[in-house]
Amino acid sequence: MKTLNVGMIGYGFMGRAHSNAFRKVGHFFDLPYQIVLKAVCARNEEKARAFAARWGYESVETDWKKLLAREDIDLVDICAPNDVHAEIAIAAARAGKMIMCEKPLARTGAEGEKMVRAVEKAGVPNTVWYNYRRIPAVTLAKQLIDEGRLGRIFHYRAKFLQDWTINPDLPQGGTGLWRLDVKVAGSGVTGDLLAHCIDTALWLNGSVDRVNAMTETFVKERKHVLSGKVEKVGIDDACAFLARFSNGSLATFESTRYARGHKALYTFEINGEHASIAWDLHDLHRLQYFDHRDQGTTRGWRSIHVTDGEHPYMAKWWVPGLAIGYEHSFVHQVADFLQGVAEGKPVGPTFKDALETQYVCDAVLKSAQTGKWEKVKKIR
Ligand SMILES: NC(=O)c1ccc[n+]([C@@H]2O[C@H](COP(=O)([O-])OP(=O)(O)OC[C@H]3O[C@@H](n4cnc5c(N)ncnc54)[C@H](O)[C@@H]3O)[C@@H](O)[C@H]2O)c1
Repeated sequence: MKTLNVGMIGYGFMGRAHSNAFRKVGHFFDLPYQIVLKAVCARNEEKARAFAARWGYESVETDWKKLLAREDIDLVDICAPNDVHAEIAIAAARAGKMIMCEKPLARTGAEGEKMVRAVEKAGVPNTVWYNYRRIPAVTLAKQLIDEGRLGRIFHYRAKFLQDWTINPDLPQGGTGLWRLDVKVAGSGVTGDLLAHCIDTALWLNGSVDRVNAMTETFVKERKHVLSGKVEKVGIDDACAFLARFSNGSLATFESTRYARGHKALYTFEINGEHASIAWDLHDLHRLQYFDHRDQGTTRGWRSIHVTDGEHPYMAKWWVPGLAIGYEHSFVHQVADFLQGVAEGKPVGPTFKDALETQYVCDAVLKSAQTGKWEKVKKIR
């Protein structure tokens, strides 16, 4: 079997999630390549070495440009904050590397377009880690919709609620809090959380034509970790928007980091003419399904425990009835991506798919400023 050498950039939350996936995937899936954790790259050498020792990376780099220059790296995995995705991905494409890039693709659609052009020009396999698509219950939702079980779709409803930035004394910026610094993050909950909801929605329900949004920044100033000064907060703390899909369905999306009590409550519900489905990240191995065609006396919402061998990905794991979790969505993405690479087929979400999500985010943020309905830029 051919080997595939991974060079990963950034060793934070996603660095751990991806390393875990790269290590685990070959034990459960038949892969076309043998993954080798060749190098991890981060600016602090001591910490990078400790990370490499823990996760089994063969070497360490402290400058991502040096990592990209290495001939023994086949795949570059970008797990660094949003402000460096474009620069690294464009350089990686020019260096002929395949790329797995964390979401959101970029801070803006304009930045994302350059990334799409770079990977298409270089012809390198690429994907963006919108991992929720590959939670088996979410993949099952996609199958049910594609089979036509829901019929015509009327409504799409998504939420992503958290509560970790309510404290006004929380600073912004720096290593741990870059998500609150608009220069690094690009936006607040829109690019961070709603981007996930939008990616799933585009995948399940097709493209979005128009949006009408409102955003709020509840805490207007925070001390910046790097400058030590109190600075204006440029991110959206909360965002809610209405959307019209091209298939005629109506949607509502909401996200906030000010919903006391909620940590990562990503939920969606889809209502079609025959059936409805609902999913909840806090109960991620279940899919709720209601089918109006069921016999009247027993008709009702079913809670499908998505752990059977017939369910997406589950035959690769344990016996029916035993659940898997969040981390496995990353394992599935690696397995699917490598299969696509071996077959020469793109595996979604590609950079281009993720650019569509970026265009929706751009339209949402624009609408929040203009107070008007805004059209979503179309992928050419
Ligand atoms: N798919 C998901 O569900 C999901 C979840 C969390 C984060 N993310 C995305 O993953 C990315 C990273 O987020 P995170 O939560 O892991 O952040 P994090 O702060 O935990 O880790 C970021 C890492 O990048 C490193 N880094 C920053 N600048 C760098 C540079 N110039 N060169 C090399 N390394 C650099 C930091 O040292 C750190 O190790 C973001 O784009 C974020 O949006 C995705």
